[in-house]
Amino acid sequence: MRNMNDNRKPYKRFAQREQDRLAQYDEVHVEKQQKKGKLSVYERINLLLDEGSFHEVDAFVKSDQAGNTHPQYGDGVVCGHGEIHGRKVLVYAQDATYMGGSLGHLHAKKIQKVQDLALRMGHPVIGLIDSGGARIQEGVASLAGYGGIFLNNVKSSGIIPQISVVLGPAAGGAVYSPALTDFIVMVKRTACMFVTGPSVVKEVLNEETTFEELGGASVHATKSGVADFVYEDEEFALLGVRKLLSYLPSNNVEYPPLVKRMTQAPLKRARLPFILPDDSNKPYDVHEVINLIVDVDTFYEVGEDYAPNIVIGLARLNNQVIGVVANQPNVMAGTLDINSSKKAARFVRFCDNFNIPLLVFEDVPGFMPGINQEHDGVIMHGAKLLYAFAEATVPKITVILRKAYGGAYIVMNSKSMGGDFNFAWPTAEIAVMGPEGAVNILHRKELLTADDREAMKAQLANKYREEIANPHFAEEHGYIDEVIAPENTREVLISAFALLENKLSEKPARKHGNIPL
Ligand code: HXC
Repeated sequence: MRNMNDNRKPYKRFAQREQDRLAQYDEVHVEKQQKKGKLSVYERINLLLDEGSFHEVDAFVKSDQAGNTHPQYGDGVVCGHGEIHGRKVLVYAQDATYMGGSLGHLHAKKIQKVQDLALRMGHPVIGLIDSGGARIQEGVASLAGYGGIFLNNVKSSGIIPQISVVLGPAAGGAVYSPALTDFIVMVKRTACMFVTGPSVVKEVLNEETTFEELGGASVHATKSGVADFVYEDEEFALLGVRKLLSYLPSNNVEYPPLVKRMTQAPLKRARLPFILPDDSNKPYDVHEVINLIVDVDTFYEVGEDYAPNIVIGLARLNNQVIGVVANQPNVMAGTLDINSSKKAARFVRFCDNFNIPLLVFEDVPGFMPGINQEHDGVIMHGAKLLYAFAEATVPKITVILRKAYGGAYIVMNSKSMGGDFNFAWPTAEIAVMGPEGAVNILHRKELLTADDREAMKAQLANKYREEIANPHFAEEHGYIDEVIAPENTREVLISAFALLENKLSEKPARKHGNIPL
């Protein structure tokens, strides 16, 4: 705390500067944000961090650039460190009331200092973004400022968790730092992210659009997949970040925090064998399976509205943090397509970065067929998920609930790709392709001449299920470690993950692999 009452000369100046600085954040400052439905920069920091834990750095940095006629202390960004659940984090928060939160070279240097501290000390870094992008008046200096921030984002990637919370506009350069971080959180209505704004879209393409239509939270949560979490308001968003961090280690050489809770086991596990419909072509909600296996109320879904044919999220199993990847038969029958492959691949790599074991629930009829999928590159995008699972060295377990066909079976952490354990429920169907497709190929000639084609087809399909497309065939050949009863799944997984706790894995010496980007 600065001493404001000492009248000796150096202390008077010291106190005066602090008064001037605080005056910048008066009611007018707060009202400017309120009018736009937003919180002020310190309100945000106080909601994010443990009470009283914030220590500001570089509060008196002031722009010296020509063209900036009203320099202010802080240069439009508040930086510092504090704690979340008693663990250190580094924070920067842009102040949109000063030059639209735009990024000048000193503003950039402040952010870079925070990033640098976070990386060297091994703490997460959280950016609260509300910015018009590169500060136009500072020209190339502001562009270079972004360059330095992006470089730090990449240097920190996979070493410390980086989280971006978009609470207002994020325009131009302001979007690429979030894109390089691990998670993007957005708030409804006030947040938007775009590389070029509506006026440029109009000028270049003569297309009318709004901030919301172009880059609002719902667009990024559903269409682009840019936003991992969307919240109703800023308070929920900042509490969401606190929750997210409770699952993450502070850096890549630590393990996720262990939280001891009184009750964890779901009570209604007896329902597990009855979730899957008798007809294996009927859908069901895989969330129910996940929630009846992991610790109660711990599943925290990521990107729930984007590519919902795959479900990803963090959870706890017997108090240990795990990353869950599950096909969702309720959407597109759980097929893998371009978007779901990209979504899951990024999450698998994140978990692997931060020592979070992976649990896969598999029910996938195959890759999504179609001209669009092929032309848009399902080959390369599907390969991302293959690459991510194969590369991950954390403990990896798959439970095959029902369908596990073809390439999609291999992708979803099969044993041949390095899965540590593959378990299957008795309802599992594991084979090169589904019974109908297989019968059509294997028995084409007989079917052509059959009196009752449909009856023969059904009979052959049943035979195929009995002989090949079942978990026991795979178990007898060593591709499934154990066929398990659904209601025992939780105990089997707890025991298997405990065995894998000290898993050793060697990585070949190389600069980095060449993931099909
Ligand atoms: C300097 C800026 C600014 C910027 C906004 N301001 N953006 N000043 N550089 N980039 C100033 C405005 O002049 C205004 O100043 C104040 O911030 C508030 O702006 P408003 O427009 O009144 O606020 P609002 O209506 O809330 O709109 C916010 C906004 C809009 C959506 C961010 O200002 C906007 O579209 N700005 C331009 C965004 C943009 O195109 N940026 C791209 C920069 S290029 P006064 O003095 O009137 O209060 C870039 C390239 C880097 O970033 C690429 C790296 C890969």
